[in-house]
Amino acid sequence: MNKKIGVIKGDGIGPEIVDEAMKVLDRIAEIYGHSFSYTQLLMGGASIDVNGIPLTDETLEAAKESDAVLMGSIGGDAKTSPWYQLEPSKRPEAGLLALRKGLNLFANLRPAVLYPELKGACPLKEEIADRGFDMMIMRELTGGLYFGKRSTEKVDGVLVAKDELTYSETEIRRIAKRGFDIAMKRRKKVTSVDKANVLDSSRLWRKVVEDVAKEYPEVTLEHMLVDNCAMQLVKDPAQFDVILTENMFGDILSDEASMVTGSIGMLASASLNETKFGLYEPSGGSAPDIAGQGIANPIATILSAAMMLRYSFDLDREAAAVEKAVSEVLKDGYRTIDIMSEGMEQIGTKEMGDRICAYIK
Ligand code: IPM
Ligand code: MG
Repeated sequence: MNKKIGVIKGDGIGPEIVDEAMKVLDRIAEIYGHSFSYTQLLMGGASIDVNGIPLTDETLEAAKESDAVLMGSIGGDAKTSPWYQLEPSKRPEAGLLALRKGLNLFANLRPAVLYPELKGACPLKEEIADRGFDMMIMRELTGGLYFGKRSTEKVDGVLVAKDELTYSETEIRRIAKRGFDIAMKRRKKVTSVDKANVLDSSRLWRKVVEDVAKEYPEVTLEHMLVDNCAMQLVKDPAQFDVILTENMFGDILSDEASMVTGSIGMLASASLNETKFGLYEPSGGSAPDIAGQGIANPIATILSAAMMLRYSFDLDREAAAVEKAVSEVLKDGYRTIDIMSEGMEQIGTKEMGDRICAYIK
């Protein structure tokens, strides 16, 4: 199989972790007889430095011409980086949002799994960690507060800021369908998360999700308020299969879910549209504080590349081979610093990539 992959290495630890994921993809290509070609694309801070803006039309077009995009992470330290002296619409994050919108990537899949080998890194009580968990957070990615109108203006001499939160029936229906489709391939349970006791957008969310659920009689649907969900994630994470939620709630809950897996460095993500195209990136940020030190955990990016193999290229066997190699490396005691625990062997970014490649069969 020949595939064209757009690569956005990005900022901070981005380039280091993407290099390891490309190494893994090359290893897969070699063993399974595929050919992956890469086109480097600039986005975020790296694009600001060269083009003055975080995403150019050319980059968006080049991304559209790829079969899938592999991304590291973007952004810098808001206190020290010159990128944050620019107006908000020109900062690195604006590039990411424009890319998501421009590619219509409305469905964001963030799997949070507690690997048995990483129970020691899980901050929850032993009796909770022992039960393990395996959930898929389905986050709506192109609507809600992130894309509403914003303004800051003086009203009667007082500064007033506004962020509009809008969801249409169509936007809710398409993400809900995706959520139920994915639940059908898993344990057939959907927890739809909203704030229906306060927000109109959440009441519509609930109504549309209930409607969609009628087409999936095998799937159990439950509704949960977002504040309760935040609590349940640390109290009893094993109860979740698919968490289906809107953009902002999904942003917050996925960071929380990642932390209970032991480290945000473990959490992969896929952003999909209606076609096979997808953008694959770790859920974590660019971690400028540890950039360039060779200590960042590349596993989330490598697992994102595995998601690319599965969702965009239909290479299930190859995806499983990558995932298996990751668990074996962990089983054999190799750890980057973020997931290090007593008795394990600490290794750096590159060595983690090399070890995972060596385990791929
Ligand atoms: C994420 C990130 C982004 C988001 C930021 C960088 C804009 O936190 O992918 O979760 O909020 O969506
Ligand atoms: Mg986030």
